[in-house]
Amino acid sequence: MQSRVTTSTLMKMKQDGKKITALTAYDFPFAGMLDQSGIDIILVGDSLGMVVQGKENTLPVTMDESIYHTSMVSRACSYSMVVGDMPFMSYHGSIDKAVENAGRFLKEAGAHAVKLEGGAAVCPAINAMASSGIPVQAHIGLTPQSVHQMGGFKVQRDEERLLQDARDVQAAGAFSVVLEGIPSAISAKITKELQITTIGIGAGTECDGQILVLHDAIGINDRFLPKFVKKYADVAGVAKQGIEQYIKEVKAGDFPSKEYEYK
Ligand code: KIV
Repeated sequence: MQSRVTTSTLMKMKQDGKKITALTAYDFPFAGMLDQSGIDIILVGDSLGMVVQGKENTLPVTMDESIYHTSMVSRACSYSMVVGDMPFMSYHGSIDKAVENAGRFLKEAGAHAVKLEGGAAVCPAINAMASSGIPVQAHIGLTPQSVHQMGGFKVQRDEERLLQDARDVQAAGAFSVVLEGIPSAISAKITKELQITTIGIGAGTECDGQILVLHDAIGINDRFLPKFVKKYADVAGVAKQGIEQYIKEVKAGDFPSKEYEYK
């Protein structure tokens, strides 16, 4: 069995020009499939709020819910690095509280790192977490927790600000940064300049790695899909087919047939 992906593995992959793969997961069965397939990073994203809980955005997700889902994911993984996504307002305000919340992902949920959104404004929190031995992945560009401030889920094009945010989170001690909803030419510049790894979502091919929300990528989510999502499977279609067949057979009295009965 291959050894677990760590922050050093990712750094080496960047140096060797090997692409990093990442997907989200929120439970034991899917995390197991991802781990066995050889995904480098599993993010227990706060996209949980939208694709699992059916909410309009990621803001209502709580610390306890994130810890619960991250524990299920970590239990299934022996290869992938598990990253817990810090919910909205769990790393703002007091730095001590932010470090305590980040620590819960490693201590209680078995994660190997945490992710949080923002640039310069969250650097003191990144620095305090990294100084406490907690690996931090930053997330800049289109940051869904700021949906109301951004006036919607909008592509971010302010090159100077994006470059500065990327430099700031690296200087604060982040080991990696997610680039979301950024024109490819800007992510290419950021990726070239930074020593840490860049993981793109709607940020073009030049990033060191790519991430998608699992439920979008394998067709579990049948709600709106952004332009950057490629659908690799139709899991909802296959599941619905099976469910409809079950309903048909039960109604017709064909299930359970003799082979499924106890003698
Ligand atoms: O919550 C999430 O799933 C994310 C990814 C889209 C990067 O933050």
